[in-house]
Amino acid sequence: MTERKAALITGGSRGIGAAIAERFAQSGWDLTISARGLDALEETAARLRSIGGRVEVVPADMTDEDAITALVAAHNAAFGRCDALVVNAGMGVMGAVADFPVRRFDKLYQVNVRAPFLLMQGMLPTLRATAGDSGAAKVIAISSITGVYPEPNLTAYGATKAALASMCETFNLEESTNGVSATSICPGYVDTDMSEWTKGEDAIPAEQMISGADVAAIAYAVTELGRYAVLPQAVLTRSGTNLHRA
Ligand SMILES: NC(=O)c1ccc[n+]([C@@H]2O[C@H](COP(=O)([O-])OP(=O)(O)OC[C@H]3O[C@@H](n4cnc5c(N)ncnc54)[C@H](OP(=O)(O)O)[C@@H]3O)[C@@H](O)[C@H]2O)c1
Repeated sequence: MTERKAALITGGSRGIGAAIAERFAQSGWDLTISARGLDALEETAARLRSIGGRVEVVPADMTDEDAITALVAAHNAAFGRCDALVVNAGMGVMGAVADFPVRRFDKLYQVNVRAPFLLMQGMLPTLRATAGDSGAAKVIAISSITGVYPEPNLTAYGATKAALASMCETFNLEESTNGVSATSICPGYVDTDMSEWTKGEDAIPAEQMISGADVAAIAYAVTELGRYAVLPQAVLTRSGTNLHRA
């Protein structure tokens, strides 16, 4: 009997993270999902358990290093393996360089870059052990198209997402020979709570945005790649004339 696969997904309570969790649950994976809000996590976990598989819920704030350490320990204690680490939890703040408060820049960096780094580092022994001598384990980082192409008023956010993508690239140089590789997925606007402010008739109708399921399809496809196949980056744009815009 083959062992069940396991993933740790941050920001798994809603939006893109919940869509990825659902896609993985449909394929029989065990999951740890994390976010700050316990109620939303429990609600999503109940839905995922009805699809099948074990789901562990671990609340953690990505600005809290001790909470990240505890999240890694909880996932390892529950499943003892990690076939996919999905670093998805993130925050967005708009604002031009001219008057962007530096404390906001610091928080963005903590959540969008420092936390993914700590998670990649903390989970590395488990990822390597899961890959073993012939298998594969994947890190899937939800970056953004704003980390690839410039977008007005998203200087700080875009910089954090470019940093995340860069981390994946270098991680591959260091770890892919151990069977562990990383992919940054860089979508334009996805129909979630985070993009709420830009929806509407005068802006971008929600139904014309990328769906969480679209992002989840790419994330799951990455897990089907073998040990010797590395996808450093996947840019996912909206249709129409905005191809290289969020
Ligand atoms: N939506 C878009 O248009 C879009 C496009 C490109 C990339 N992205 C990226 O995709 C990722 C997911 O975004 P989304 O659209 O799914 O957003 P969302 O619907 O707002 O969900 C964000 C998730 O992250 C969690 N989270 C937020 N801040 C956190 C923190 N400090 N510590 C721990 N968990 C935290 C949230 O739960 P709690 O609030 O309970 O903590 C929630 O589970 C983000 O990295 C975002 O930058 C989004």
